[in-house]
Parts: sequence; structure tokens; C-alpha cells
Amino acid sequence: MSAGPNGLPVRIAVLHGPNLNLLGEREPAVYGTVTLEQINARLVEIGAELGVAIETLQSNSEGALIDAIQTWRGARVAGAIVNAGAYSHTSLAIRDALVSVGVPYVEVHLSNVQAREPIRHRSMLAADAIGAIGGFGPESYYLGLRGLVTRILPSA
Ligand code: DQA
Repeated sequence: MSAGPNGLPVRIAVLHGPNLNLLGEREPAVYGTVTLEQINARLVEIGAELGVAIETLQSNSEGALIDAIQTWRGARVAGAIVNAGAYSHTSLAIRDALVSVGVPYVEVHLSNVQAREPIRHRSMLAADAIGAIGGFGPESYYLGLRGLVTRILPSA
């Protein structure tokens, strides 16, 4: 496990927004049949392979997502994977929280939001992200994690 500047393992947070708890049963034609639990388990495995610790959180509430982001302060978390669900398109408050804590993050989406309704083409989070990835189903998270770790641990 890689150690950060404080000697603790490098910790990556994965944030899942509203309705992502229903993955597996929710609109399977759009989001597939893999559950959130399965995605989280795979992220932990990939994290172990890359030498980083993964912590995951899902909430349907904007305030709870912001509260979670605020716990990343003080270099507790080295980077984040963020799928804010529909809040990605609307939430200036989540964008402000991400920028306030200064934690580098990758925006991810299971679906290709640019190929969907125009309301989904706008992202409040993309301009401040390291990068954005979508359209690959669960693989969007895994690719995002690998890209994030390559950026924050250049030797990875
Ligand atoms: C999503 C895309 C959003 O537009 C949608 O509201 C979601 C899921 C995705 O992962 O593809 O809830 O973030």
C-alpha cells in the first residue's frame, strides 16, 4: 500500500449520488445489471492492485454528499471518483464543495451523457475535474480510478 505525506495509506474516495443505490434494477437498458455493491467490490480490488485504499459512499441527498466531501479536508483523502448522478448536471453546491476541499477528482458516468437528453450534456463538475469518463458502464469507474491514481501517484 502506498503511503501519503502523513505516512498513512493513500486513500481514494468514491462518491455515488442519487439513485445509484438502485443499480442492477434501475433502467437496465441504460445502466446495465451490475449492482453498486459489485462495482464497489471491484474498485476495492483494483485499489489493492494499485496500492491505494478505497472508501465508498452513496447518498440520495445533496447535503449528505457535500458533508462527505467536506470530510476529505486536511489531505485525509488524496483523490476522488465522483458520479454525482443527476446532481452532476445541476449542483453548484457539490461543485463548490469539491473545489473548496481541493481534492483532485475524476467525474464518471456509467452512461454516455453526451448521447442522451440535452439536460445531461451540461456538467457542473467537469470544468474542475482532472478528467471525465462515461459510456463504459462500470468500467467508467475502473478506468477513472486507474487514471486518477496515475495522476496522483505518477510512479503507478
Ligand atoms: C449518470 C448519468 C446521469 O445523467 C443520471 O442522472 C444518473 C446516472 C450515469 O452514471 O450515467 O443518475 O450519472
